[in-house]
Amino acid sequence: MEQTFIMIKPDGVQRGLVGEIISRFEKKGFTLKGLKLITVDQPFAEKHYADLSAKPFFRGLVEYIVSGPVCAMVWEGKNVVTTGRKIIGATNPAESAPGTIRGDFAIDIGRNVIHGSDAVESARKEIALWFPEGIAEWQSSLHSWIY
Ligand code: PPS
Repeated sequence: MEQTFIMIKPDGVQRGLVGEIISRFEKKGFTLKGLKLITVDQPFAEKHYADLSAKPFFRGLVEYIVSGPVCAMVWEGKNVVTTGRKIIGATNPAESAPGTIRGDFAIDIGRNVIHGSDAVESARKEIALWFPEGIAEWQSSLHSWIY
């Protein structure tokens, strides 16, 4: 079953959006497989965003992510990577549709509340980086009803 890595960024945690965001993924029918509140240091944030190291906004993005606790999660379900990105909305909140998380709760690209893996392969890498201890295996009995 497909998995994705979702991170509620420091602004989302501090604004009290964790419950709202988890609720949106749960109501869609996805299964929460891993969850932790964690404050990461600069080297870790740089590793997570390594692909963006040449971008002009890289330093600011790293400072933002280390500025407070983030809520790191693994969600599972059919097409969860692509559908998760639709639930999140466009990267720039100025372009994200109402009804998406960024469309409803964000204004600025530098404070866009949430991260979601952009592909199955990056999800695999990000889950390995953020959950090196692994995640507990459990089977949701809801699957037979939702699919
Ligand atoms: S790019 O330039 O196309 O590679 O970037 P993009 O895929 O749109 O976004 C990748 C992540 O960079 C963040 N981002 C920014 N942060 C701060 N300031 C600016 N200007 C900016 N532009 C992009 C964006 O939110 C993405 O973060 P994640 O956490 O992956 O969603």
